[in-house]
Amino acid sequence: MLSSYYIIPRTLDEALDVLAAHTPLGPTRLVAGGTDVLVEIEQGAAPPRALIDISRLPGLDAITLDGDEVHIGPLVTHNQAVASPIINEHAWPLLRACWEVGSPQIRNRGTLAGNLATASPANDAIPALWALDARVTLASTRGRRTLTFPEFFLGVRKTALAADEMIVDISFPVPPKTARGTFIKVGLRRTQAISLVNIAALLDFDGEIVREARLAFGSVAPIIVRAAAAEQALVGGPLTPERIDLATELIQEAISPIDDVRASAAYRRHLAAVITRRALEQLAEGKERKGWIGDPVMLWGDTDGHYPPAPESTQLPAHSDVTLRLNGRVVTLPDASHLTLLDALRERGYLTGVKEGCGEGECGACTVWLDGISVLACITPAGRAHGAEVVTVEGVAHDSHLHPVQEAFAHDGAVQCGYCTPGFIMSSASLLAERPHPTPEEAMQAITGNLCRCTGYAQIVEAIVEAGKR
Ligand SMILES: Cc1cc2nc3c(=O)[nH]c(=O)nc-3n(C[C@H](O)[C@H](O)[C@H](O)COP(=O)(O)OP(=O)(O)OC[C@H]3O[C@@H](n4cnc5c(N)ncnc54)[C@H](O)[C@@H]3O)c2cc1C
Ligand code: FES
Ligand code: FES
Repeated sequence: MLSSYYIIPRTLDEALDVLAAHTPLGPTRLVAGGTDVLVEIEQGAAPPRALIDISRLPGLDAITLDGDEVHIGPLVTHNQAVASPIINEHAWPLLRACWEVGSPQIRNRGTLAGNLATASPANDAIPALWALDARVTLASTRGRRTLTFPEFFLGVRKTALAADEMIVDISFPVPPKTARGTFIKVGLRRTQAISLVNIAALLDFDGEIVREARLAFGSVAPIIVRAAAAEQALVGGPLTPERIDLATELIQEAISPIDDVRASAAYRRHLAAVITRRALEQLAEGKERKGWIGDPVMLWGDTDGHYPPAPESTQLPAHSDVTLRLNGRVVTLPDASHLTLLDALRERGYLTGVKEGCGEGECGACTVWLDGISVLACITPAGRAHGAEVVTVEGVAHDSHLHPVQEAFAHDGAVQCGYCTPGFIMSSASLLAERPHPTPEEAMQAITGNLCRCTGYAQIVEAIVEAGKR
């Protein structure tokens, strides 16, 4: 059970009214992408009384340039930030940080505002925004206030957000044209991995001389830290090997990592030094964009990556029906509003092609298209689909002809036990809608959120490329 009430407001004002009205009645949570909230509930946190779904409020998923400030709306997803020309031009460390988040399906639902509100020291967007000197604007029915990051972040998963407040804007000053930045993350694997350590670096140069330096580190202290002594050591001279050595030593003063299941404190200290050196060397050589893939795979299918607004305001008490367009037909899933979309599709819609592998966003077996965009049904509330369009693997074949990806998977031996296959088919078919003739590298990007334990990925990548040729 996700919550006793699932509420879908239609406007920001209505969302703030609903938040103010429900907060005194019992635990109330906003839900945007749900990639943190649903995992918490699935892992045993007490379900809130009310979930207020803000993910379809109109006009809040824009990134805009207003004079000398960049503004990021509260519903901007990580993938939308990666695709934004404004972020690409003015906030390279943020683009790289958003690209490092989870998998394409996670980046299609997870928002930057959700990343900030969760306030884990391992979250990737926070150090990048910290180095950019970002602020957050919070709104409630009582008014608005804008806070700096040091004012907003109070501790591990603790922020200054009051129970009736919502982040409505993230903003930062456009860095000077002479500034260059980078973001580097180390995890236990290359995708779908929480940061062991990360760094966002933003340096402003006067010719060769460093005029200003900002170094923000994640996963090495209860909140993100700036390394003030190291920053000062860099200012006033060029980025020589000696100055880089000194800054790398000085960052140790700022960090206080802990031992946990992912890494020891000593290993984190070592990694922090390694990535500081790498970041500064990249910036010294002007190589911070080297190796970037240029046109990343989004799994947006044939959409522009933005979700349509909710058709109407709705309040769904637990056990209500959820009505959606499912595989091309309007369908009512009875007694479903308190479930995940995965459980609703399988147990109320009898669509057992949607598989549960991990139940917490890690394996991709439950990949479906929500309004044309690839997402994970296990961490999407069923209520989010009310009035929306969902396609499952049962809906990708047309007029009894298999989708070219399905044909290629069967023909090229890309299936063994088949448990992961529906998820791979959904990601691959989405890729083909986005770019009809994918390269092996693009096929690999498309399936970074899908795990297979028996076939091996070589045949799967071959099948996806082959499907494009067909
Ligand atoms: C498999 C997996 C991999 C992940 N990998 C990474 C990773 O590599 N790096 C990383 O940084 N994170 C990662 N995450 C965490 C998560 O995806 C991000 O933190 C994401 O940005 C959360 O955004 P959301 O919109 O899904 O938040 P939600 O889950 O909707 O909400 C999270 C919290 O923020 C609050 N909230 C949401 N929007 C607002 C708002 N506008 N105002 C006030 N409060 C709000 C909610 O009430 C809730 O408390 C991963 C998660 C999963 C499941
Ligand atoms: S990602 Fe949804 S079941 Fe694993
Ligand atoms: S075919 Fe068995 S898990 Fe992929």
